Amino acid sequence: MNFKLLKPLGFILTFILVLNSCKTEQKQPRSIQRGKLADSIMVVSAREEASRIGAEILKQGGNAFDALIGVDMALNVAYPFAGSLGGGGFMVYRKANGEIGSIDYREKAPIAATHDMYLDENGDAIASLSREGALAVGVPGTIAGMFAIHEKLGSMPMAEILEPVIALAEKGYVVTENQWNRYRNYAAVFDSINGMETLYSVGFRESDSLKVKAGDTIKNPVLAATLRRIAQNGKSEFYEGETAQKLVNFMQKHGGIITLEDLKNYEAVWRRPIVSSYKNLKIIGMPPPSSGGVCLAQIFKMIEPYKLSTYGHNSLKSIQVITEAERRAYADRSFFLGDPDFNDIPIETLISTEYATERMENFSFKQATPSSEVEHGVIPGYESMETTHFSIVDQYGNAVALTTTLNGAYGSKLYADELGFFLNNEMDDFSVKPGVPNMFGLIGAAANKIEPQKRMLSSMTPTIVEKDGKLWMTVGTPGGSTIITSVLQTILNVADFEMGMQEAVDAPRFHHQWLPDVVTFEPNTFGKSLLDSLAAKGYQIRQENSVILGKVDGVLVLPDGTLEGGADRRGDDTAVGY
Ligand code: DON
Repeated sequence: MNFKLLKPLGFILTFILVLNSCKTEQKQPRSIQRGKLADSIMVVSAREEASRIGAEILKQGGNAFDALIGVDMALNVAYPFAGSLGGGGFMVYRKANGEIGSIDYREKAPIAATHDMYLDENGDAIASLSREGALAVGVPGTIAGMFAIHEKLGSMPMAEILEPVIALAEKGYVVTENQWNRYRNYAAVFDSINGMETLYSVGFRESDSLKVKAGDTIKNPVLAATLRRIAQNGKSEFYEGETAQKLVNFMQKHGGIITLEDLKNYEAVWRRPIVSSYKNLKIIGMPPPSSGGVCLAQIFKMIEPYKLSTYGHNSLKSIQVITEAERRAYADRSFFLGDPDFNDIPIETLISTEYATERMENFSFKQATPSSEVEHGVIPGYESMETTHFSIVDQYGNAVALTTTLNGAYGSKLYADELGFFLNNEMDDFSVKPGVPNMFGLIGAAANKIEPQKRMLSSMTPTIVEKDGKLWMTVGTPGGSTIITSVLQTILNVADFEMGMQEAVDAPRFHHQWLPDVVTFEPNTFGKSLLDSLAAKGYQIRQENSVILGKVDGVLVLPDGTLEGGADRRGDDTAVGY
């Protein structure tokens, strides 16, 4: 035997053994349960009818911007819970050439609005006034938004886009079990606000004379007529024409303060998106008057130094880091954020790495930081539900994320029977009095106080994410104050926890917003020992059967260019792709 050879042979053997042991220790990639896959286009929205109309527009050669108008208008017909002709929203886009932008068509306070319009003679807030009926309604922005988008980015004639929507309103949509359950909850309020004879009060009253059940078809010829007039006469139909006059008469009859001047003055505004980063991702978010882009960027910056993927998905340490970052970001939200046309907002500082580091300095894994000990940050020189989301990627590579709302379910519950749609109760998103929470428990300050023609602060977070300079995800959700944290967790689920789009959307979620000082968990999905460990560290846990945190709809671009739709299991949401 040649002993000289033994030594190198030993090295080689050891090397092979080490290599093998490394191999067995190497983490196996998870196998991903994908959602709807498609080569070319994907539309994900809260209703199948709307997703199909969007996909058809794309198949006819329209682009994502044409499709978004079709989807948005179809949701007015088939998803009156949130469909927003009587409301407003935000849209973030990324064109195939990489150009990005966003539009704000948020409702505005009427000219006659005053800072104390929801307070009684003792100065106490009367919650119902900002939530139900005509006084709760902000000047609707949706039609202005749709026409501004169409003018700048659309490619098909408006009348052609609206044609299938008008047909849907005439033919009717089928009421799902989910929708039926919701309608029933509100039938009595509809009756008391609108009388017994409107489409939804009569149709959905729970009584012996009940006319509509799950599975039945609802036609809305009045809405079809409104849309036909809009298709013929354009934006001015809604803001100056017959529709405007009918709307103003209706508002006045119900004790509202919106005038023709309010409608004529309304303009949608193009705004520069909030651009930030998380590791190798570029996050493109909605700027104020939505708090979504700023808060999301802040939370991402605060959690970036921590190794979430090592801690594990929904593990004790991950939940702690995310909750503590959310606590600090929402404390800042309540103080600094409001309509940018009325406030100077220190956005650059708020979303900077240095500020995030400073905000997390007092965080410890040992113990929760009580919200009572967290105030908004100090920035030198600074003085001072129901919504729906859809995501579209077209065959040209354009992507849109659009979130739109009436605020509460069916908004103010006020149904304009001669026009065929519900009106928003967005005025409740203002801070009606410092320290008094709105319907999402959010507290605001001077930056978000009521002023004539001001836009109320929003949490809506339509978001587009790039990876390595290419489109990676378009995502968003309803959920009031929980929108920001649901979008955050969905992006993290794919970026840090190796999930696909559908899995990321379906995964159990939790939420924290500074005040109230509780962490809310979706029911029956987080283990008792995990929740006990969090409680032992001082986190107050809230878990109720009725809690649903968002309904996220997103599209992920896979490395080979395939599109994966994620349609949230929590609703009737549907991905349609080809
Ligand atoms: O703009 C906002 O933040 C709220 N008006 C959104 C309301 C909402 O998401 C209700 N949906 N569940």
